[in-house]
Amino acid sequence: MSQTGSRPLADKVVLITGAARRLGRAMALTLAEAGADVAITFLTSSREAQRTTNDLRNLKIRALALRCDVTDEKEVQKTIKEVVRTLGGIDILVNNAAKYETVDFEKLTLSRWDAIFATNTRGPFLVSREAIKHLRRRTGRIINLGSLGGLRPWATHAHYCCSKAALHMLTKVMAKALAPEIAVNCIAPGMIDLGEKATRPFFQKMAKQTPMRRNGIAEEIAAAALFFATAPHFITGQILAVDGGLGL
Ligand SMILES: NC(=O)c1ccc[n+]([C@@H]2O[C@H](COP(=O)([O-])OP(=O)(O)OC[C@H]3O[C@@H](n4cnc5c(N)ncnc54)[C@H](OP(=O)(O)O)[C@@H]3O)[C@@H](O)[C@H]2O)c1
Repeated sequence: MSQTGSRPLADKVVLITGAARRLGRAMALTLAEAGADVAITFLTSSREAQRTTNDLRNLKIRALALRCDVTDEKEVQKTIKEVVRTLGGIDILVNNAAKYETVDFEKLTLSRWDAIFATNTRGPFLVSREAIKHLRRRTGRIINLGSLGGLRPWATHAHYCCSKAALHMLTKVMAKALAPEIAVNCIAPGMIDLGEKATRPFFQKMAKQTPMRRNGIAEEIAAAALFFATAPHFITGQILAVDGGLGL
């Protein structure tokens, strides 16, 4: 395979928010394996961010980790500037940072509602807005991490589901508003098993309800991110459910 074939993202710079661990980390490693230089952000997971950065550098690419609260305009502006200063630009932005929680509908407070929206919807808007001028210069891409919960109603996750449904719409709005320079797409993961013991009974139940008879794994979300990172630029405004058919 040619150098470009095995490393389709060589010379590209990727910024992934909230990528110290879990799905963000998996996407960072996959995009780095494809040759991209990778900047990750973290909020509280500084040790995991350091570990992920070391693992990224072992893939012989440039990597850096920056602390950034995606709800804070000044921090987001500072982060984008620092990524551009250090890595020379941004080709692909992955809006991954998010909050998730289970709350009975009647118990949902305004502060919980607002906090979820501030991170899951306003965050991707803010980071994207600040990255636009850099992405435009490089015929860039934005990949949002939505959710099956943004496509299907979950009774104990009203705020989360609504925040992700809004992010799906934001994907389509940005795809139109930022064309033709920037392609904007969204991955909507279903049940992704990250091997946590506490969730095992729930995941076993969900696997039975899933047409593919299993839950997803992090590498499958990372593969979807690699797809949107390398797909024809003509593909834009799409919401790709990666859910084994659970949402059907
Ligand atoms: N896991 C799943 O099964 C699943 C299913 C559907 C959709 N998704 C979506 O896929 C994405 C990744 O999933 P995940 O489970 O890996 O996510 P996660 O662990 O819930 O969150 C990812 C990261 O977001 C960061 N974060 C939270 N609030 C932030 C803020 N205000 N500013 C900056 N960073 C913040 C956290 O960073 P620190 O750790 O540094 O604090 C966290 O590590 C998310 O958008 C999620 O909603 C996941």
